[in-house]
This record gives sequence, structure tokens and C-alpha cells, in this order.
Amino acid sequence: MAGGPSTPELVAAAGAAGALGFLAGGYLSAPVFAERIRAARALTTGPVGANVFVPQPSAGTPEALARYAATLRPLAERYGVEPGEPRYDDDDWAAKLDVLTDLRPEVASFTFGLPGERDCRRLRAAGITLVATVTTAAEARLAAERGMDALVVQGPSAGGHRGTFDPAASPASLSLAETLSAVRAVTDLPVIAAGGLMTADDIARVRTAGAVAAQLGTAFLLADEAGTNPVHRAALRSDEFTETAVTKAFSGRYARGLRNRFIDDHEPRAPLAYPEVHHLTAPVRAAAVRAGDPQAVNLWAGTGFRRARTGSVAAILSGLA
Ligand SMILES: Cc1cc2nc3c(=O)[nH]c(=O)nc-3n(C[C@H](O)[C@H](O)[C@H](O)COP(=O)(O)O)c2cc1C
Repeated sequence: MAGGPSTPELVAAAGAAGALGFLAGGYLSAPVFAERIRAARALTTGPVGANVFVPQPSAGTPEALARYAATLRPLAERYGVEPGEPRYDDDDWAAKLDVLTDLRPEVASFTFGLPGERDCRRLRAAGITLVATVTTAAEARLAAERGMDALVVQGPSAGGHRGTFDPAASPASLSLAETLSAVRAVTDLPVIAAGGLMTADDIARVRTAGAVAAQLGTAFLLADEAGTNPVHRAALRSDEFTETAVTKAFSGRYARGLRNRFIDDHEPRAPLAYPEVHHLTAPVRAAAVRAGDPQAVNLWAGTGFRRARTGSVAAILSGLA
């Protein structure tokens, strides 16, 4: 979980309790990503996972971005900041692949697409197990052809960004159960189910449906070891927020979060343009966190957020066993 929640402490605590935690590489520079993998290694002898965003060409245009920037200006002024520069970048992709090859986490996972064939060969030669997030059977087929070792099948209830490969596509709407069955029809790779899973019963259900494991995000956002910011934590527990929504307004890619004023005001005019929109809204989101105001913060959460529990990662995991 990029943007703060996935700390080395969370990853180490998950590993110590028999699960597999993932360090988030998204938005970090490669040196900071490396530092966090090393920090997790220093805290545990257990397995460490690391996750990176695969760069895709942006679906945005300068005109659409300029229009969206203009609509954000009054809100930015209210928080006393300028909108960010709507720049494209590849999230330090090549350098992060070097970090993975050098530091060899047991598992590397990819979202928003797949590494190239040569990169896959290099990572595998380093002894790393490769996992791709997929949201459709077509993406699963591509991932299998690319030589992935396992797939995370992400359903529509998932918190945070949808892993959809095509940055211009609408997110798939089949349920997690339907997506699992469609994916299992096209590949024999082990599948890990994700999206809206919050309880032991939820996990048992996806295991019965053929998943070898479950991946949970929202269930750990309130964990002691998570780096979730205080505004996000409070919002997850507040009666002010009653539902989640899927929005491209914060980042230019579809993601699910607690429905707040920013989503209501900006979703209709937000272009699909990742990562430019992410950079454009970043100063506003940061200022809202500083001001303790959840109404302009990306409060990523899955549909099961009401069942997120506080406490240690070990206690949360034992409740899920
Ligand atoms: C706060 C937050 C941040 C996330 N960041 C990432 C990320 O950096 N990389 C990624 O592959 N998935 C990310 N996800 C999606 C998760 O990998 C997973 O698909 C999702 O949490 C599963 O649904 P759930 O939140 O209902 O458990 C994030 C999810 C949340 C809630």
C-alpha cells in the first residue's frame, strides 16, 4: 500500500505472523525504496514482498490537464497552495528494477501492467518469485504468457487503485467470484484473491473458490504498524463517511476510497491522466492532511472498511485465521 500505510514494520510483523507483507515502491525514489526493503530485512528473518507500479503511457492530453488544473485552483487557494505540476514520470521504473535485482525480496509484485520479458528473466534469475495483479481474464492471459509465477486477482470492491493494465479503460465490473472463475478458466497459475476481504469467512470463501491465498489491504490500514496518516485513520472510523466510491479525481486512474467532497466536486471533470493528475492534486491533498481535513484527502479504502480493526498486525491476522 503506497502513500504511507506499508511500512517496514508492517511487512516484518506480517512475516513474523506467518503472512507475507509487501513494501510499497509506488511514489518513492529508488534509493528510498531500497532503504525500506533493507529496513524490513533488518527487522525480520521472514519473507519480504515488494510492490512496484508498472509505467504506462498516459491517457491524458495537455488541454484536458489544463482544464482540470483550472477547476482545482479555487480549492488550492483555500488551502493556501498552488496545484502541482502535471508532469509525466515513470516512477523511477528502471532504477526500481535494479533495486529488486540487487536486494532480492522473496516476492516482487506488479500493478498497472507487466514488466518486459527481459526484465522478467533478470528478476527470476535473481531468485525472485513474480506476481502480477490482474483485473480481467485477458490480463491474466497476458501475465501467464509473460511468465508470472502467480496472479493477484483484484475484484471491484478493492481499496486503492484498480490494477487495470490499459490506462484509458473503465475498470472491470465483474464480481471477485466471477473474475476468479474467469481467470481460472484461462490459466493454471496459482491465484491470490483480493478486494473487499475483511474476515476469516471472506478468506475461506475465496479459498473454496480456488484461490491459494487472499490479499488484504484495508483490513490493515488501522494496524499499529501501518503508516496510514492520522486523517485517513480517523476518517475510516468516523460516522461522517458511510460509503466508498471509485474515482479518477485524485490521481487520473480509477481508485476506490471513502466518498468525500473532493470526489463529489471533481470526479465529473477529472480526466484519465495518470500520473499527471496525481502530481497536480498532490499539494492540495498534502495541505488537507496538514489541516486535518478529510474532505480533500484521498482516503483509499475498500468496500469492507467498516470492519477494519485496530491493534497489532499479529492480532489482526489471528482474527483472520
Ligand atoms: C491505501 C491503499 C493503498 C494501496 N496501494 C497499492 C499499491 O501501492 N500497489 C498495489 O499493487 N496495490 C495497492 N493497493 C491495492 C491492494 O493491493 C489490494 O488490491 C486491495 O487493498 C485489496 O482490497 P481491500 O483493500 O478491500 O482489501 C492499495 C490499497 C489501499 C487500500
